Amino acid sequence: MTSLTPEELLTTTRAVRKRLDLEKPVEIQLVEKCIEIAQQAPTASNRQNWHFMIITDQSIKNSLSDLFRKGWQSYINSPTSVATTTSSDDPKKSKTQRKIYESAKYLVDNLRNVPVFVIPCIEGRTDGSNVSVVVQSAIWGSIAPAVWNFMLAARLHGLGTTWTSFHLLFEKEAAELLKIPYEKVMQVALLPVAYYKGTSFKPAPRDPIEKIIHINSW
Ligand SMILES: Cc1cc2nc3c(=O)[nH]c(=O)nc-3n(C[C@H](O)[C@H](O)[C@H](O)COP(=O)(O)O)c2cc1C
Repeated sequence: MTSLTPEELLTTTRAVRKRLDLEKPVEIQLVEKCIEIAQQAPTASNRQNWHFMIITDQSIKNSLSDLFRKGWQSYINSPTSVATTTSSDDPKKSKTQRKIYESAKYLVDNLRNVPVFVIPCIEGRTDGSNVSVVVQSAIWGSIAPAVWNFMLAARLHGLGTTWTSFHLLFEKEAAELLKIPYEKVMQVALLPVAYYKGTSFKPAPRDPIEKIIHINSW
C-alpha cells in the first residue's frame, strides 16, 4: 500500500488514463477491498442501496468499450465538451483542456485493454420528469461519495481510475448486456481500474477559491 498523508491522498487522486498499466493483471480481491472501503460512505437514510458491477470478461469489456466510443463521439461535439472549451481565451486553461482531450481520447482507444471495469449503480432513477431535487439529491448523494471513496482507496493500493460517463448515453444497452434491472437501478459511471505507472501525481490547477466561495450572500 502506498504511504501518503491524508492531504496528499485527497489532493493527488487524479483521473488516470495514459498511466494505466494495461499489461499488469489486477486481483479481484483488491477491487473488492476497495469496494468495502467505498461502503463506508454515507447514504440517505442509511439505505446502502448501492451495487458495484465488476467486469473482467473480455467480450463484455469489448461491447462496453464500443458503447463508450459511441458516447464519446456524441459528447465531443457537444457545447460542454473539452474539445469545445479548448478554444477559451485563457491560454493556460486551454492547454489543460487540450491535455484532458488527448488523455480522454487515449482512454476511448484503449478502454477494452484495461484489466477491470467497475460500474457503480444505485437503486432508483432520476431521469423521470417528476423527480424532485430532494429525491435527486438523495439518489446521487448516496452513490457519489462511495465512488470517490473507491477511487481514493484504489489510489492507496496502487490502482488508477477515472470517473467516466460516456457509456451512459447508451445506458439501456449496457443494462441489457449486464442484466441490470434498468427500471429500478441506475448506472452512475464506468471506472476503468488498472495499476498505475509511476507514483508521482500532483495537485491539479484549479480556479482561485474566491470564484466559488460565497460568504453569507451569493
Ligand atoms: C461526473 C464526471 C464524469 C466524467 N466523465 C468522464 C468521461 O466520460 N471520460 C473521461 O475520460 N473522463 C471523465 N471524467 C473525468 C474528468 O475529465 C476529470 O475528473 C477532470 O478532467 C479533472 O481531472 P482530475 O480528476 O485529474 O483532476 C468525469 C468526471 C466526472 C466527475
